Amino acid sequence: MSATKFVVGVAAMAALLASTQAQEYRSEDLILCDCGTGDYPDHPEWSTSRQMNWYKDIKWPEDAYAYPDAPDMAVQVPFNDGLYPWIPKGATAKMPNDDVWTAYIEDGTPDGFKAGSAVTTKEGGQMLNCWAYRGRPVSAALNKTVNPDAVCWSAFVCNRDETAPPRPGDMGSQSSTSTASSAPATSFFSTTPATPVPTTTDGEPAPTMTPDTGALFVSASVSPRFINWNNTWESFISKFAWDQTTGRCVAKPVRGDGFTINIDCAGIRIDSDSHMTLILIRALNEVGLNSTWFNQNPVVPGQNSGNGNRTNATSWVVMPESFSLQATDKSNQHAIGYLSYNTTYDNFISGPCSTCDTSRFDSQFFDPIIEVMQGTYPLYNSYSIQAQCHPWMAC
Ligand SMILES: *[C@@H]1O[C@H](CO)[C@@H](O)[C@H](O)[C@H]1NC(C)=O
Ligand SMILES: *[C@@H]1O[C@H](CO)[C@@H](O)[C@H](O)[C@H]1NC(C)=O
Ligand SMILES: *[C@@H]1O[C@H](CO)[C@@H](O)[C@H](O)[C@H]1NC(C)=O
Ligand SMILES: *[C@@H]1O[C@H](CO)[C@@H](O)[C@H](O)[C@H]1NC(C)=O
Ligand SMILES: *[C@@H]1O[C@H](CO)[C@@H](O)[C@H](O)[C@H]1NC(C)=O
Ligand SMILES: *[C@@H]1O[C@H](CO)[C@@H](O)[C@H](O)[C@H]1NC(C)=O
Repeated sequence: MSATKFVVGVAAMAALLASTQAQEYRSEDLILCDCGTGDYPDHPEWSTSRQMNWYKDIKWPEDAYAYPDAPDMAVQVPFNDGLYPWIPKGATAKMPNDDVWTAYIEDGTPDGFKAGSAVTTKEGGQMLNCWAYRGRPVSAALNKTVNPDAVCWSAFVCNRDETAPPRPGDMGSQSSTSTASSAPATSFFSTTPATPVPTTTDGEPAPTMTPDTGALFVSASVSPRFINWNNTWESFISKFAWDQTTGRCVAKPVRGDGFTINIDCAGIRIDSDSHMTLILIRALNEVGLNSTWFNQNPVVPGQNSGNGNRTNATSWVVMPESFSLQATDKSNQHAIGYLSYNTTYDNFISGPCSTCDTSRFDSQFFDPIIEVMQGTYPLYNSYSIQAQCHPWMAC
């Protein structure tokens, strides 16, 4: 008995030793900052520069608007191709000591939630969690072009913690985002009706049809604000349990990290082996696998485990906080299926407003839905999909 325990103890100590050797600064923080916010008179909400600040271990002051100690290192992160750097595509910068950091961020994440990861090449590669944590002053800006006294504000804080840094009581919901986008003239995006699937020629005369016979219309609505589902996409889809006799979802609310997701769906039977409810669940699954609205475990290059072997990123999915699909028969305007989920938060959430990024309504969004809707053939042979952000802006 005690011998076994002893062996386990040695193994645990060896593992601990290995990981502390691999990570010289266990308590390090990488802060992704927006600097000079307010310094452009015409665009007071824009930042004038962005930078990464590195700290061995930051000590946040109790007063929300007091500065912490100066960073141990800092580097500017330029606007590459005119893009705000704190986005899923990733931004890379080299610190003065040659450590290279890359941050992958979902910028619509509300404050207090995990917004992405940061990886470094130092010591063979490591990964930090990044938390949305906007609006605390952190340091002077390196870039003094617009204002010699420009201040950097926190946008995202990356560290090894399992939760975001606490928010002091006197911290307002001041925001420092710079992804200003203007609302387009229309908020509806749609595909042209898909070409009808060719009918199998079985010699039967084609029946006379009213213009909309066989036309299926699907309307999608997506929230512009994101949540981080702390598990795999398959595990989320598996929550859409439904009853084959009623066609309705029987899913219980799903717990995430700091939020609860409510699920609902319903649909008619199409024929002996297809059901609208299942088709809508498949459509959500495929959209989640293909569309940039659902950012699947971003590939984080150069990520290594402590022992030098490559590991896969821990499973998490950035997804809209609410989503719905409604399928309507165009000939009689009857709804034939419905699927939705939405999110309620444990606490009051704050942060900048998220506005709709309409470029995500692209073929990677529409094509998977059309492909899955073809499962309703021959009852339906023409499919049109329309998508819209709802709400347009979430604050
Ligand atoms: C410094 O700020 C100015 C003004 O915003 C900008 O044009 C310039 O590219 C910045 N420098 C770097 C290295 O990002
Ligand atoms: C996700 O978070 C919830 C709530 O904090 C927790 O109960 C659950 O175990 C987490 N799931 C995973 C796979 O970490
Ligand atoms: C979403 O939220 C509304 C209330 O805001 C609620 O009526 C509805 O049932 C919720 N659930 C789903 C799955 O849409
Ligand atoms: C790395 O992975 C290989 C194959 O899975 C394994 O044999 C090896 O022991 C691993 N290396 C370490 C240091 O764990
Ligand atoms: C990483 O994911 C790939 C593809 O899913 C899989 O083949 C591979 O075994 C995974 N590697 C590890 C270390 O889990
Ligand atoms: C969606 O993604 C899956 C897996 O990546 C792929 O096999 C499929 O062809 C994609 N579907 C569409 C319609 O692009």
